[in-house]
Amino acid sequence: MWLIHRAKRLAKLSNVNSLKARCKCDVPSTRLKDKIKNGPDLKYFITSSNGISEPVEPTRIPYLPDNINFSTARRKVYFDVYGCQMNLNDIEIVWSILKKEGFERTEIEEEADIFLVMTCAIREGAENKIWYRLDHLRGFKRRRANSKKKDSPVKIGILGCMAERLKEKLIEKEKAVDVVAGPDSYRDLPRLLAQTDSGQTAVNVLLSLDETYADVVPVRLNQDSVSAFISIMRGCDNMCTYCIVPFTRGRERSRAAASVVDEVRQLAEQGVREVTLLGQNVNSYRDVTQPANLTHTKLAEGFKTVYKSKKGGLRFADLLDQVSSVDPEMRIRFTAAHPKDFPDEVLQVISERPNICKMLHLPAQSGSSAVLERMRRGYTREAYLRLVDHVKARIPEVGLSTDMICGFCGETENEFQETLSLMDLVDYNVAFLFPYSMREKTAAFRRYTDDVPDHIKKDRHNRMMELYRKKCQILNDKEVGNTHLVLVEGIDKKTGRFMGRNEFYLKVVFDEVELPCGEGRREVKPGDYVSVRIDEARLSVLKGTALRVTSIGEFYRDLGWADRKLLRN
Ligand code: 5AD
Ligand code: SF4
Repeated sequence: MWLIHRAKRLAKLSNVNSLKARCKCDVPSTRLKDKIKNGPDLKYFITSSNGISEPVEPTRIPYLPDNINFSTARRKVYFDVYGCQMNLNDIEIVWSILKKEGFERTEIEEEADIFLVMTCAIREGAENKIWYRLDHLRGFKRRRANSKKKDSPVKIGILGCMAERLKEKLIEKEKAVDVVAGPDSYRDLPRLLAQTDSGQTAVNVLLSLDETYADVVPVRLNQDSVSAFISIMRGCDNMCTYCIVPFTRGRERSRAAASVVDEVRQLAEQGVREVTLLGQNVNSYRDVTQPANLTHTKLAEGFKTVYKSKKGGLRFADLLDQVSSVDPEMRIRFTAAHPKDFPDEVLQVISERPNICKMLHLPAQSGSSAVLERMRRGYTREAYLRLVDHVKARIPEVGLSTDMICGFCGETENEFQETLSLMDLVDYNVAFLFPYSMREKTAAFRRYTDDVPDHIKKDRHNRMMELYRKKCQILNDKEVGNTHLVLVEGIDKKTGRFMGRNEFYLKVVFDEVELPCGEGRREVKPGDYVSVRIDEARLSVLKGTALRVTSIGEFYRDLGWADRKLLRN
C-alpha cells in the first residue's frame, strides 16, 4: 500500500510543472544574517510547545468538566489521509480514540458531520494538495449550512504535520477550519471537537517528549487487509537541513518493545500476515525502559550524528528479534531508516530470519559528498557506498530502495551528476525521487539560498526518473524465470487478476484460482502465501504463474534456506 501511495506520488511529481520553491534571494543580507543568528532552533520548538517558554497552550474549555461524557455527541467522521505511512497509522490511532468516545465513521461525504484531514508538510506540493481539498470542504460546509441539515453544521479538523507547522495561522488563512491538532495531541481530539459545538475554534499543537500512543490500539480502517502498520517510535532527532519533520513531529521517542510485541501478537490473532514497523528513523529505536542487551555499538566508519548517541536500552536489532519471533509466518517490514544505523547486529537478524523481508531502505538523498555535507546527512558518498557493499555482502539477496532529492541549495550540475552516478552504481529496486522544496524553519531556510531554478529542478528530476526507470526495468527483467514468495492481497482492480506482493513489495499478478495445497488443492484467498514463477516483468508489476499455496517456512525449506541465494539468477 505504501509503495502504491508513494509510486502514485512519484508519477505525479514527474509531471510537476513548476515547483514554487520559496526563493530567499530577495531577502536583504543583513536581515538574513539576523535571521540565522536569531532564528529558532529545535529546542525553541520543543520548549515552547511544552510550555517551558512562551507556551502554546491547548485552548481550555472552562465550562466543560475534564470527565465529560462525549458519547452523547454521536457524530459521523470522514477521514482524509495525505502523506506518509505514519499518517495512515496515525489516522488509525485517531479513529481508535474517537470510536471509544462514541463517534462513528463514514466513507460517504454527504453523511459526514466532521471531516478530519491528516496532513503532510514535507514539500510545498504536498501542502498544495491539501489546500485544494480544503477548498472543496469549505464549499461542502457552505452548502450544508444552506441546506435542510443546517442544524447539524459540518466541522473541519486539520491534523498532523501541516497543523503543527502552521498552528493558529491555519485558522486565520482558512476560515472554514474548526480544529487544528498536531501529531502529539490526538488524545485531546474529543475535547477539541466538543469545544467546536459552541461555535469556537480549538487548537492543540503541543509537542511532547514522551507521547507514543503506546496504549492506544489502532483500529484499522480496512479490517480486511492482510497487512498492518505499527508505529514503534515518533519524531526525529537527525536535523537534516532540508527537513521539516523534526519541527512537525518533535523529538525522537520510542515505544516500549513489550507493547509493540503485544500489538504484533494481536494482529497475528486477527489474521494479519504482514506488519510494517514505522518510524521516521526506525533503526535508531531504543526502548530505554529496558536494560541493554548488547554492548553499545559504534557508528560505522564515515558516519556521524548531530546528537549524542543513545546509550542503554533495547535496540532495533533486539526489537526485530522479538517481533519476528512472535509468528514465523508473519512477514516483517520496516521503514524509514537512516544509513548511519545499520550495525551488523541488525543485518544479522535480517539475514537469518526468513520472515523479515530482505528489502532495505537506505535513503541516500544525494550522491555528492558536498551536497550531503550541506544536507547534514552525517556521511560521505564513499561511506554510503561502503555501507551498500557491506550490506550486499552480509545479505546477498537483499533489495535496496532509496530517497533522492535533486536541486538542493547550491547543487551544481556536477554534483547532480554524482547523484546519477550513485544511482547507476547501486542498482536500486525502488527509488523515491523528489525535487527540493524549501521549507520554513529548517536549517536550510535559515542558512542557504534556494537557488536552483524550478526548470532545472524539474529537468534533473526527469533525468533521475529516466535513469531509475531504465535500471529498475533491467533488474525486474532478471527476475523472469525465478520463483517468488507472494503474499496474496486480493483481486487487482486494474487487471481483475489475483494480486500480491513479493519480498521487495513489488506487485505480482497471476491468473490461477485453484492451486495445490499440501496433498490436495484449494482456491486461493487473501492472506495465502503462494509461490509464483515470474513470466513477465514491467517497471512496477511482475506477471507470473502461481505454482502452489505455501508458507514462509515451506517455501524456504523447499529451496534450502542455506542456499536461498538460488532465488536470484
Ligand atoms: N524537499 C524535497 N524532498 C524532501 N524530503 C524531505 N524533505 C524534503 C524537501 N524539503 C524527502 C526526503 C525524505 C523523503 C521522505 O522526502 O528524500 O527521505
Ligand atoms: Fe509528511 Fe514527514 Fe509529516 Fe510524514 S512525517 S506526514 S512525510 S511531513
